[in-house]
Amino acid sequence: MKPIQAGLLGIGTVGGGVFNVLRRNQPEIRRRAGRGIEIAMVADLDTERARSVVGEGVTVVNDARAVIANPEIDIVIELIGGYGIARRLVLDAIEAGKHVVTANKALLAVHGTEIFAAAQRKGVMVAFEAAVAGGIPIIKALREGLTANRIQWIAGIINGTTNFILSEMRDKGLDFDVALKQAQALGYAEADPTFDIEGVDAAHKATLMCAIAFGVPVQFERAHVEGITKLTAQDIRYAEELGYRIKLLGITKRSGDGIELRVHPSLVPTRRLIANVEGAMNAVMVQGDAVGTTLYYGKGAGAEPTASAVIADLVDIARLHSADAAQRVPYLAFQPDAMSDLRMLSMSEVVTSYYLRMRVADEAGVLARVTGILADAGISIDAVRQREADEIGGEGSTQTDLIILTHDCLEARMDTALAAIQKLPTVLAPVVRIRKEELA
Ligand code: HSE
Repeated sequence: MKPIQAGLLGIGTVGGGVFNVLRRNQPEIRRRAGRGIEIAMVADLDTERARSVVGEGVTVVNDARAVIANPEIDIVIELIGGYGIARRLVLDAIEAGKHVVTANKALLAVHGTEIFAAAQRKGVMVAFEAAVAGGIPIIKALREGLTANRIQWIAGIINGTTNFILSEMRDKGLDFDVALKQAQALGYAEADPTFDIEGVDAAHKATLMCAIAFGVPVQFERAHVEGITKLTAQDIRYAEELGYRIKLLGITKRSGDGIELRVHPSLVPTRRLIANVEGAMNAVMVQGDAVGTTLYYGKGAGAEPTASAVIADLVDIARLHSADAAQRVPYLAFQPDAMSDLRMLSMSEVVTSYYLRMRVADEAGVLARVTGILADAGISIDAVRQREADEIGGEGSTQTDLIILTHDCLEARMDTALAAIQKLPTVLAPVVRIRKEELA
C-alpha cells in the first residue's frame, strides 16, 4: 500500500526528532502500521534550516497553507505551538479534511472544544499523545488501557523544567532564583520560563487529562494554577525533615459532586515512588477503581521522546485512516454525545491537607492561640514542630518557626483560619501554606 503522506508544520527540535526517528525506524513502523509513513512536505519560516534537517526528496516551503492545500497530504503535523496561528492552521487543516497530529497542549486546553467539534464534523482524527508528558504514552493509557475503570484521580509531575528546578533546590539547598538561572544555563528552562514556572504548562496538560479521565469538556479556564516561584529552600528542607518532598503536581480528582482541577506545589510522602522522580523527568499516577494505582514514568520533553509520541499518533492514524469514524477511539475517550456536565469545583471546595509554616514570637501562648484557631475552624492537626529559636535568628533570638501539618480539611475552612492566624500580633510574617497529598 502507498505510504500515508504527512506534512509537518514547524521543524524545530521536535520536528527534527520526528523526521529522524521516522527515517531510522521506518521498516519497523511499516510492519506495525501496515503501510509506510512519509513526511512528504515541511513548512518552516527558516527553509534553509528545514532543508538541512530533511535533506533532498522532501518539499520544503515557508508557507504552512501550502501544506494544508496539498491534496496528496493526509495528515498535518502541527508543531508550531501557541494558540495564535496554530489554531487557525489546525482548523484550516481540519476543514481541508486532513487528520491532525499535534503536540500543542496550550491550543487543545484552551480551544479543544472548538477543534474537536470541527474534527468530528469533518470525520477526521485529532491526535495529541505528545501534548501531555512527552514520551510517556499517558493519553493512550487513559483513553484505552484504563478504559474499564472509573478513574478516581490523577496526580502528575508533568513539567520537567520545574521538577529540575525543585530537584536542584533540594539537592543543593539553592533558592528558586539561583536554581532557575542554573536551569536556564543548562538548557532545561526557556529564556522566558513563565509558562513553566507559573504552572501554566502543567495546567494545560492536567486539563487534557481531566477531560479524558472524566469525560468532561476541556476547561482550562476552571483550573487553579499556582507555580513554584514562591517556594523557598527552607520549606523544602523542613518538608524533607518531616518525610515529604515538594513537587509541582497537576491534580484532577473526582470529589463529591464535582471535579477538582489544580496545579500547585504539593508535599508528597518521600516513600511514594513519584516523590523520587527527579530532574527533568515526568511521572503520572492514575487511580482507577478496578486497576488500583498505576504509575507512568519517562521523559516529558526532548526531540526523540516527543517524536516517539507523535509517531505513535501517526501509526494510529495510518491504521484507522480508512475505518468508519464511529469505530475510532473518541477524541476525549468518551463518545461526544455522552460527555458529562460534572461541575468543576472551585478551590474553596477542595479537600486536602496542609503544611503551614509561620514565623512567630517565641513566647508563652503563641502555639495555643494558633492551634485554638485551627480547632475552632474544625481543622485537625497531624503534627507540630517548633524550630530552635537560635537556629532561626541566631543566639538569643526571640523568634521561631512553627510548622504544622494538618489532616484533610475544606480549603474554605483553611482560608478562614489562616486569615485569623495572620492577624495575631505574634505571627510576624505571612504564613506559608503548601498543600499536602498523601497519594495513598
Ligand atoms: N516545557 C515543558 C516542560 C516541556 O518543562 O516539561 C513541554 O511541555
